[in-house]
Amino acid sequence: GAAAAAAGDLSGRRVVVTAGPTVEDLDPVRYLGNRSSGKMGFAVAERAAARGAEVTLITGPVNLGTPRGVARVDVRSALSMRDALARALGDDLSGADALVMTAAVADYRPAVVSPVKLKKMQGAGGDETSLRLVKNPDLLAEIGAKRATKKPVLVGFAVETGTPEQLVDYARGKLLQKKCDLVVANEARVAFAGDDNRATIVSAAGAEGLGTMSKVELADRILDRVRDVWADIVA
Ligand code: CTP
Ligand code: CA
Repeated sequence: GAAAAAAGDLSGRRVVVTAGPTVEDLDPVRYLGNRSSGKMGFAVAERAAARGAEVTLITGPVNLGTPRGVARVDVRSALSMRDALARALGDDLSGADALVMTAAVADYRPAVVSPVKLKKMQGAGGDETSLRLVKNPDLLAEIGAKRATKKPVLVGFAVETGTPEQLVDYARGKLLQKKCDLVVANEARVAFAGDDNRATIVSAAGAEGLGTMSKVELADRILDRVRDVWADIVA
């Protein structure tokens, strides 16, 4: 909690955070995006830096200022976020002690990106159209599959609609499938709404439901849990 968020308690640690949406271009004027504001990831980056960590923040297009002391890398698509992650983590993943993956990474991208603006089709045949999409790589699952130790500690996020029970079930599935240490689950309606969030933190040990709090406060709670994982590694 707040008392545990002591100044400097994360010093000497390297934390990589991803934030915001990814944006998948269709042509020079159109893209597929999502409702992620970036606020959760920016809050994690801000708090990690304030608590002494060396922080790299890899973000999709958002309207937010860079938190003090944070190295920011701006990206656009899932594939460009993958490149930035590879640079930040290194081939052997030794570049970070923790990766907090708050980004809402697009699951699919247009199969073809047109270099020129697409024109609408004329005549009766143009009344309907469809878009061919191809799957993006799962950035977190790739890193989870590659990771041999707890370096970096991996934190995933899961934004869902549906019942609280489904929320935790999906989060457990993602924890196992992506080989994460923690998955922070929240409801889309709350998560994308503004400055507050209500989350459940799921780990192999169980699910901890948290009350509604600011994204900054939730960031501290998540970082407390990451610090606990680090402490367990030493013990
Ligand atoms: N994620 C990722 N790469 C993707 C999709 C998701 O790294 N291509 C990460 C997100 O950053 C998040 C976690 O995986 O930390 C869960 O994302 P989510 O969209 O909830 O899970 P998916 O596995 O994509 O499942 P679905 O969207 O079908 O619920
Ligand atoms: Ca997804």
